[in-house]
Amino acid sequence: MSRLPLQAGNWKMNLDHLEAIQLVQRLGYHLDDTDYDRTEVVVCPAFTALRSVQTLIEGDRLRIGLGAQDCHWEESGSFTGAVSPGMLAKLDVSYVVCGHSERRRLFGETDDVVNRKVRAVLAHGMTPILCVGESEEQRDQGRTESVVVGQVEACLDGVEDRQVAGMVIAYEPVWAIGTGRTAEPGEAGATCGVVRAAVAERRGTDAAEALRVQYGGSVKPGNIEALMRQADIDGTLVGGASLDPDDFAVICRWHRL
Ligand code: 13P
Repeated sequence: MSRLPLQAGNWKMNLDHLEAIQLVQRLGYHLDDTDYDRTEVVVCPAFTALRSVQTLIEGDRLRIGLGAQDCHWEESGSFTGAVSPGMLAKLDVSYVVCGHSERRRLFGETDDVVNRKVRAVLAHGMTPILCVGESEEQRDQGRTESVVVGQVEACLDGVEDRQVAGMVIAYEPVWAIGTGRTAEPGEAGATCGVVRAAVAERRGTDAAEALRVQYGGSVKPGNIEALMRQADIDGTLVGGASLDPDDFAVICRWHRL
């Protein structure tokens, strides 16, 4: 089965709505239909910029998708500061990052919380980008596979196989995020393969073959080609380099390299 690669920019807590508009405009200049036919392109701005970026994408008919970086799992209610999946769906948000390691580490999100978010996002017709990945310590202990498989299993609890098939799982080794240290492409590809194999075992080969598995962690124009050459890597989740429209455009046009 051929899977359409997905290059997604996770802007994290960067860019106000004016800067966001500028970046998407510049990104749009770099990409044409031949790129979008080969690769799905998504940006994940901060909540405050979603509406502006949505309006720009719609107005200029850009083939750039919109993602959010997080959401709550409840529909509405007394959850000060939180944003519900319904609010995001109303803004034409297609993807929601769930369980990014920064949310897990800095905001105490557990697999159980991430699982609730994944299910809520699916219930609203959006696609979760479920993040998994081991810490440096876990890696040094040789526990990468068991940690990643454990997260996949726990965070997909109660999700139907056909829903898993439409999802995205991003393998992001924590030690490679924002550090400039990328997992060696072969190693990144192998762990993405572990994710797919875990899904195959639990959810069947149809779901595993359809599922898109991304790599994330210091993805740059200089390493995108080698990463995309890995059979089990179906795209990347990009932090720092997605804040530069020229760099992110190269990543989105990896097939031209
Ligand atoms: P960097 O690309 O800055 O390492 O961030 C990766 C990441 O966390 C994407 O979600």
